[in-house]
Amino acid sequence: MLDILIHPDPQLRVKCRPVTDITPQIRTLLADMAETMYAAPGIGLAAPQVGSEHRLLVLDVGDDEESARRGRLYKLINPEIRSRSGKTESEEGCLSIPGIRETIKRSASVVVQGVDESGNDLTIEAEGLLAICLQHEIDHLDGILFIDHLSRLKQQLVKAKYSKLRSAEHE
Ligand code: NI
Repeated sequence: MLDILIHPDPQLRVKCRPVTDITPQIRTLLADMAETMYAAPGIGLAAPQVGSEHRLLVLDVGDDEESARRGRLYKLINPEIRSRSGKTESEEGCLSIPGIRETIKRSASVVVQGVDESGNDLTIEAEGLLAICLQHEIDHLDGILFIDHLSRLKQQLVKAKYSKLRSAEHE
């Protein structure tokens, strides 16, 4: 089981490097990340959240249509958003920002390309929760957190609430 880093850990702001070789260590990392995500519990986990700078993530949003077709758990290496369309907004949270949930605007559907842990090309045409989760997790690989998408004013409010939560936790 891996430790999940908590905002404002600077490691969460790192821009991840593409994976050039899918070594046994990479496969172990993906397996450990999946286990850590399920235990949390969460529906997605990106490498920076466990202190890794590899461009990879795991996610399992459960029983939406696309997941039902392919199996629930994705282990995605070097994912890139190739196209996006539409707009949606929904409430998001993040295992690295405990206690905060906010409504975030995202693209309604995305096409993501990457490779799986065997090195096979993977194209995911996603909408709904899967599309939102993919955008959230891929943001993590560029050091972007979901609260970065809020207005300046809203960010200040969230920052104040979050410091309160964090100091209460440490009392
Ligand atoms: Ni997150």
